Amino acid sequence: MDDRRFDIVLFGATGFTGGLTAEYLARKQATEPFTWALAGRNRPKLEAVRERLAAIDPALAEMELISADTDDYDSLLSMAQQTRVVLTTVGPFNRYGEPLVKACVAAGTDYVDSTGEPNFVNDIVNQYDEAARQKNVRIVNCCGFDSIPHDYGAWLAARALSDDEPIVVEGFLSGSGTFSGGTLQTAIEAMAFNAARVKLKRQNKPVDPGRKVRSVKTRLHRSKRINGWAVPLPTIDPHIVKRTARILPEYGPNFQYGHYLRVKRLPTLVAGGVGIGAAVLMAQTKPTRDLLLKIRPAGEGPDESKRAKSRFKVTFFGRSRSATSKIVISGGDPGYDETAKMLSEAALCLIHDRDQLPDQVGVLTPVLAFREPLLRRLMNTGIQVENLSQQQ
Ligand SMILES: NC(=O)c1ccc[n+]([C@@H]2O[C@H](COP(=O)([O-])OP(=O)(O)OC[C@H]3O[C@@H](n4cnc5c(N)ncnc54)[C@H](OP(=O)(O)O)[C@@H]3O)[C@@H](O)[C@H]2O)c1
Repeated sequence: MDDRRFDIVLFGATGFTGGLTAEYLARKQATEPFTWALAGRNRPKLEAVRERLAAIDPALAEMELISADTDDYDSLLSMAQQTRVVLTTVGPFNRYGEPLVKACVAAGTDYVDSTGEPNFVNDIVNQYDEAARQKNVRIVNCCGFDSIPHDYGAWLAARALSDDEPIVVEGFLSGSGTFSGGTLQTAIEAMAFNAARVKLKRQNKPVDPGRKVRSVKTRLHRSKRINGWAVPLPTIDPHIVKRTARILPEYGPNFQYGHYLRVKRLPTLVAGGVGIGAAVLMAQTKPTRDLLLKIRPAGEGPDESKRAKSRFKVTFFGRSRSATSKIVISGGDPGYDETAKMLSEAALCLIHDRDQLPDQVGVLTPVLAFREPLLRRLMNTGIQVENLSQQQ
C-alpha cells in the first residue's frame, strides 16, 4: 500500500454527487492532508471539475486526472492499483458497479460507494465477500445517506440496551429534500428491475447460529410517539441494519428492526402514495420510463439554495424486556451535501484512522467497517447524534 500514488481516487467526479464530494474533499485537504486524483470517462468534463476545485485551492489546478470507464476493465484495474481507496459515485450501480468492485478486490484496494440499491449490494456480498476477506480488503457499500444514519442509529439504540435480552429497534425518518438526475435514473431502473427480479438470495444467517435477526412486521399506522403517520419504508436501510446485526453480538440474541417514514398529515401521505404508485407503474414500460427520466437529466441536481433548505432527522426507539433507548440523528441536505460529507469522511477514515478500525474485512456495512472512528468524524462535521435514552 505504501507505494501507491494516491490515498484516494474519486470515480464519478463529473456527476452531481461526485462533484459535491470533490468540493468537500478539496476543502478538507487544508486540515487533513492526503493525496488524491479525480477519475472518469470524459476528460474535458474532468478538467472542468478540476478548474472548479482550483477556485477552492489553487494547488489543485495541477491535480491528476485518471481516465477510467466501467466498460473497460483494464482501466478500472489500473485506477485501483494506483490508490489506497477508491471512492465511487458512478451509478446506477446495478448497471455500472460490479466491475469496479472486482478490480478493487483484485488490486487489494479499499472501496467506498454511494449506492442505495439492494440488489447490487446483495450481489456484491454473494460474489466478493470471500475474495475480499482473502485479500484483506474493505469493500464498504452504502456510505451516503443510504445507509450511514440508519446503520449507526440502530447500532447506538441497540448498544444502549443489554445484549442478553431480545431487542426491537424502530427507525422513523422525516425531513425534506429533492433528488438529482442520477438518483432519479437509479430509482426508476430499480423499480423496473425489482418487478422482474426473482427472489433475492440473501445471506440471512447470523454468524452465531444461536442468534436471530428479523424484520419487524411493519404496517401503516398512526403513532403518538412520533406525532404522525408511520409508513413502512422499503429502502436498502433495513437490509444494512440487519446485516450489521447478524455479525455484531451487541444486537442481542433476538434482534428485530422496523423502518418507517414519518408523515405528519394524512393528505401528504395520500398524495405521496399516489405519486409513488404512478411512478412504479410508469417505470415498467420504456416509453413511460423515458417520460419519467425527462423530469431531471443525469448530472443535474438541486441547487445550493434548495439544498440549504433541506434537512433530515431519523429517530430510533429501542426496547428490550428491561429498558428502552432513543437515539436521534439529524443534519442538513440528506441526498447530496450530507452524502458528500459522509462519503468523504468514510474514505478518510480508511486512510487516517486505519489503526483504530475494527479487524473486519470483506464486503461490509458502514458500522461493520468504521464503528466509533467514523461516528466521531460525522459528529465533528456537524451531523447531530443525540442519545435521549435517559429522558423518556
Ligand atoms: N443513497 C444515497 O444516499 C445517494 C445519494 C446520492 C447519490 N446516490 C447515488 O449515486 C449515484 C450517482 O448519483 P448522481 O446524482 O451523482 O448521478 P450523475 O450526476 O448522473 O453522475 C453519474 C456519474 O457516473 C459517471 N458514469 C456513468 N457511466 C459511466 C461509465 N460507463 N464509466 C465511468 N463513469 C460513468 C458519470 O460520468 P459522465 O459525467 O461522464 O456521464 C457521472 O460522473 C446514483 O446511483 C445515485 O442513486 C445515492
